Amino acid sequence: MTCEKRPPAGAGTSAAPRKLFIKSYGCQMNVYDSHRMADTLAPAGYVGTADPADADLVVLNTCHIREKAAEKVYSELGRIRKLKEAAADAGRRMVVAVAGCVAQAEGEEILRRAGSVDLVVGPRSYHRLPEMLARVEGGAKVVDTEFPVEDKFDILAGPTREAMRARGVSAFVTVQEGCDKFCTFCVVPYTRGAEVSRPAAKIIAEVERLADAGVREVTLIGQNVNAYHGTGTGGRDWTLARLLRRIADIPGIARLRYTTSHPRDVSDDLVAAHRDLPALMPQLHLPVQSGSDRILAAMNRRHTRADYLAVIDCLRAARPDLALSSDFIVGFPGETEEDFRDTLGLVDAVGYAGAFSFRYSPRPGTPAAALPDQVPESVKEARLQVLQAAIERNRQAFNARCLGATFEVLFEKPGRHPGQLVGRSPYLQPVQILAPATRIGELDPVTITQVGANSLFGTLAEPGAQAHTPSPAAMAMGA
Ligand code: SAH
Ligand code: SF4
Ligand code: F3S
Repeated sequence: MTCEKRPPAGAGTSAAPRKLFIKSYGCQMNVYDSHRMADTLAPAGYVGTADPADADLVVLNTCHIREKAAEKVYSELGRIRKLKEAAADAGRRMVVAVAGCVAQAEGEEILRRAGSVDLVVGPRSYHRLPEMLARVEGGAKVVDTEFPVEDKFDILAGPTREAMRARGVSAFVTVQEGCDKFCTFCVVPYTRGAEVSRPAAKIIAEVERLADAGVREVTLIGQNVNAYHGTGTGGRDWTLARLLRRIADIPGIARLRYTTSHPRDVSDDLVAAHRDLPALMPQLHLPVQSGSDRILAAMNRRHTRADYLAVIDCLRAARPDLALSSDFIVGFPGETEEDFRDTLGLVDAVGYAGAFSFRYSPRPGTPAAALPDQVPESVKEARLQVLQAAIERNRQAFNARCLGATFEVLFEKPGRHPGQLVGRSPYLQPVQILAPATRIGELDPVTITQVGANSLFGTLAEPGAQAHTPSPAAMAMGA
């Protein structure tokens, strides 16, 4: 992701414009943080560039979730080093910063392994960037991987109206950061720190500004978003459900989503929000990781397969057209063929509209990395193939059931062909449609006429057409 960011109109800075290239890896929270960093650096004269060779400041906002992610960063840093040398030959200084979860986990090790890096900053310290850059300009190498007590979002700048416009009709807003769950395979509690929730008033103000700039769909994000417990506007803590109800009232916001949730934190009031709030889209990413109770216990997920299915039953009772997606890990230490079959069975039992699946990757410092019975890579790979085929079969079955359905599509951007727009269905599927660009930002009923491999195709429904979604009973394919 590259931030195309201009300084706010009239932000009278005397500094000459400097070019900023930011690349984000990993999850949506990194994308959100990258935007905040660009917004915060804008008053100092930084403008976005899509070309790292051209940049005065390169920021890699990294992800540590699986092995290859960190390796990709080191090879990217190798390429950046050459650009930095070329800039130096041309008499120009290029500052290289590593942010994100690899920065937090590796700290000074990054300076040792990649000499071109000037600055290493962990995810909770981005508000200190301007001051850190000043120290780099003075010739220092700077590492900050503390978990400061102050909240970075109180200090980081919000986007200008122009920047919000450039980012489109659908926006992400971080409401919660960090994780206290400590699944035994996962680095996030170490890289993002303990769970913290932003105060509701700050979130509401941010969403109001987004709505004002034309945003129609907001996705509230957090590593454990449904553990949200921020201070409410009356001084008492609010749950995620309470926050969703309040945001649903903001004029202009037509669609709400939240991600990523943990099955243990699906509270009764959240289920009720799914029942009561038409703006809350009938699509939920609810990672389960495994369908085997033995493996779920070893993962420290603190829920069983039956608990997970019971949560889904409650959600579907409240919102019958709810589509689900999930994350799965195959080859967790000690996973047998039987455990794996339990996972496959769960995929069909839920009838997911989509899912991500990963080979277990031992992460340094996590308890599972030290477990005996690590599964050979060849076995992980074979299981991944089988699992992905099952997920794909379910995804296609779900998409096929959308044929003939009429639902509201949010038109997001021009399509590949002239006269075509791309929008999103309530279930997050891309929908291609012939419609004028003036409809971008609108929600209109669309009838699905064709189902492609990765997107749906539709036509604008007759005026006044009623939404008619795939039949509820058909949602749980294998049920
Ligand atoms: N907070 C989210 C997930 C964050 S990480 C949650 O609790 O669900 C996103 C996904 O990466 C996880 O759901 C998991 O499927 C995967 N993942 C995390 N650590 C992993 C590891 N060590 N190996 C393989 N996949 C992993
Ligand atoms: Fe990682 Fe588990 Fe926390 Fe999700 S809930 S971020 S998988 S430790
Ligand atoms: Fe990756 Fe950190 Fe997000 S490890 S998935 S960038 S929380």
